[in-house]
Amino acid sequence: MMGTNVSLEENFQAYVDGENKVEPKDWMPEKYRRTLIRQISQHAHSEIIGMQPEANWITRAPSLRAKLILLAKVQDEAGHGLYLYSAAETLGEPRETMISDLQSGKAKYSSIFNYPTPSWADMGTIGWLVDGAAIQNQVMLTRTSYGPYARAMVKICKEESFHQRQGYEVVMKLAQGTPEQKAMAQESLNRWWWPSLMMFGPSDDESPNSAQSMKWKIKRKSNDTLRQEFVDKTVPQVEYLGLTVPDSDLKWNEARGHYDFGVINWDEFYNVVQGNGPCNKERIAHHVEAHEEGAWVREAANAFAQKQAQRKKNTGAAA
Ligand code: 3HC
Repeated sequence: MMGTNVSLEENFQAYVDGENKVEPKDWMPEKYRRTLIRQISQHAHSEIIGMQPEANWITRAPSLRAKLILLAKVQDEAGHGLYLYSAAETLGEPRETMISDLQSGKAKYSSIFNYPTPSWADMGTIGWLVDGAAIQNQVMLTRTSYGPYARAMVKICKEESFHQRQGYEVVMKLAQGTPEQKAMAQESLNRWWWPSLMMFGPSDDESPNSAQSMKWKIKRKSNDTLRQEFVDKTVPQVEYLGLTVPDSDLKWNEARGHYDFGVINWDEFYNVVQGNGPCNKERIAHHVEAHEEGAWVREAANAFAQKQAQRKKNTGAAA
């Protein structure tokens, strides 16, 4: 795609409008590239930080089976993070830059992971609601215009489905257990319902990025559309468990064919996003500590790679 910048942008838009996938070596507007680096790296940060609230329960899982499932899920999240960092690197953003932006607070990650997990029921509610909300968004992202991101989503969505099902099974066991267990499930739902709705981002009229991201087919559905789909899908699941959605304004609207629901506390959302949530500081401090502890692994891997490259060069020179 050659020519002046204007026709390059026009050609690019026509290419995207033609449902073509943009690949790393294709020309792309610098803003498109920066938007993708921002979104994909923050997605990766969310996966990695999201390991912490759940890892908190690995040593306290109520059975060996539950421990194995939780271990598998947390390991999956690590893999998702690494996968997504690699997708962001195809846009020329070094891994080190992304990590330091996370640790300095310059980059965001999903605010949902700044809430504590005081009860075992939270392991179920996170899998059911948080991974459920993530799936709603990520299935849409399997059709995003940037090729490496869309392809990464296909693999990640398959594993998220396991995450969501195992979470729902945990909550179902509690909801169908003793009255104390059912109360534990309800108390957890009360704490995670609204932060899960916030995962989809600010409302469409408040979102500074959505219009352009929709135009470039980075986003295929708006924040509010995905949020509504999630509510419509999840409320019947809550009712099946005999639990109650903590929203007195929730009611089915026959004319709309959707649930009407109450007003989200956006002050809470922006407060947590700005670093004032219950666990923000703890999450970043833990990430910094783990990253520093793992420095020797990166040094060893780099030393090995350099030795290999030198050996290849020497044998090439000798041949
Ligand atoms: N938490 C923290 N920040 C959020 C947020 C949230 N839940 N929702 C939106 N924001 C931020 C945005 O990053 C943006 O800030 P920035 O411009 O500095 O990055 C600002 O709020 C305005 O939001 P917009 O809607 O305009 O921004 P986007 O167009 O980027 O849309 C998004 C936000 C829908 C989260 C989009 O970035 C996206 O789809 N990201 C990919 C999916 C993702 O990151 N999901 C996070 C959870 S992953 C997960 O849960 C893993 C699972 O395994 C548990």
